[in-house]
Amino acid sequence: MSRRSSSPPLSPRLAKRPRLDFEPLTPEDYKNGVVLAPMVRSGALPTRLYALKHGASLVWGPETVDKAILHTERVVDPTTGVISYVGKTKALFTTHPVEKPYLIYQIGSADPELAVQAARTVLQDVAGFDLNCGCPKPFSTHSGMGAALLSNPDLLCSILTALREAMPPEISISAKIRLLSSQEDTLKLVERIVNTGVNALTVHCRTRNMRKREKAHIDRLREIVDFVRGLGRDVALIENGDCEDYQDAIRIREITAYVGADSVMIATAAEANPTCFSPNPLTDVEMTFIPQYMRLCRYLNNHWSSTKFCTAQFKGSHVNARRADLKGLRDAIQKAKSYEDMDALVAPWTGEDEFKAIVDVIEKRDGRRGQAHKLPPPVVSAKQKALSDVEIKRQEAEQPVTPEQEINLQTPPAASPDPSVLNAPLAPANKLRMPLPAMLTGDLPTPTPSATGSASSLR
Ligand SMILES: Cc1cc2nc3c(=O)[nH]c(=O)nc-3n(C[C@H](O)[C@H](O)[C@H](O)COP(=O)(O)O)c2cc1C
Repeated sequence: MSRRSSSPPLSPRLAKRPRLDFEPLTPEDYKNGVVLAPMVRSGALPTRLYALKHGASLVWGPETVDKAILHTERVVDPTTGVISYVGKTKALFTTHPVEKPYLIYQIGSADPELAVQAARTVLQDVAGFDLNCGCPKPFSTHSGMGAALLSNPDLLCSILTALREAMPPEISISAKIRLLSSQEDTLKLVERIVNTGVNALTVHCRTRNMRKREKAHIDRLREIVDFVRGLGRDVALIENGDCEDYQDAIRIREITAYVGADSVMIATAAEANPTCFSPNPLTDVEMTFIPQYMRLCRYLNNHWSSTKFCTAQFKGSHVNARRADLKGLRDAIQKAKSYEDMDALVAPWTGEDEFKAIVDVIEKRDGRRGQAHKLPPPVVSAKQKALSDVEIKRQEAEQPVTPEQEINLQTPPAASPDPSVLNAPLAPANKLRMPLPAMLTGDLPTPTPSATGSASSLR
């Protein structure tokens, strides 16, 4: 986080809000929701706050390597309340108390002791810890982290066990894995992981060698879900891979029925549109979303380079916008070297109001996670039901969505169309999404902070 002297005058009002009291995360909190995936660079604090505002039931922070966070200093901005873990040259992790009940901090590690030290460092600011066991990039795997853990289940499980033993019971522990080539090996690994006492397990339905443009094997999750239910463990199973938005999450749960995966995690589509968690996501994001995002970023002192990078990823369907109008904003962002350079299109800088609106929406959830944004139970055919007695019982135990919960699914009124840019009314989501160039989607290595402040890439 930069400490920019040119920031607009700030009010201490929001910083003085009391920290939310909330119940510890349980496996239930990981269920029936759509959650934001861990994303290096793209999963910055402002993006997580918007994801929560628009219906994400939980948010994962970007992977941070264990050693890197150990050498940081925790700094609280007295004006905004933003908490930064500052390394030698920059903040390696940034959060705000308002997201704490929903925030899962992802650790990159190949060492139980270091993982525990890293977790202790940020413990007071998060609700749970997740171990990255899926990053296939060499800079992660060469030191035994990420997807390398998939072929070293002893180490993987020893890290999870160490975290579970060292962390207080109210702090949840989870893992994020990829599929192994053989389903039998995947099930063996899953069994070992759920026996460590984790609350949740995310399965990215691609194998280590699959490129992100290859279709995820969502169909393979169904057997995994049923297998875990058969073990009788209360561990939430989260599908990850190829989910476009809230409506698509309903489709995905049905593919993984009997009861379906408990929740669905979105990365790429959320990187392109952080409002995709809502049944009514914003369209024409250049006009409806980017200006407010920039204002919030400036208020939170988000480093300009991070703001610029994230806004460059925002896409989404165009319903009412004219091509020429969109180009103007895109060109301006590309040329801008600071927030001031966006004055003509984004001022007035009312980020404090934007932040207050987000805080109000999140605080209304009162620490509840899945309950406030529940996915409907998947539709299960008679044939599917007949295949598993265990699942039938569980299906029957599922509570239907009440009208009250349906209302809660609606995205709160958004500050759009943005007055400073163009007039574009909200419209229903258009399922057609523009493919992202590889350099924006992360097919290329994504830098992440290391202990020395040098960039490495972790996915
Ligand atoms: C920009 C970007 C950064 C990512 N960073 C991480 C990360 O820090 N940790 C992790 O476990 N996965 C990371 N991933 C992988 C995603 O969490 C997710 O597993 C993958 O993109 C598949 O989900 P999707 O089909 O919704 O994109 C990243 C993905 C993207 C696009």
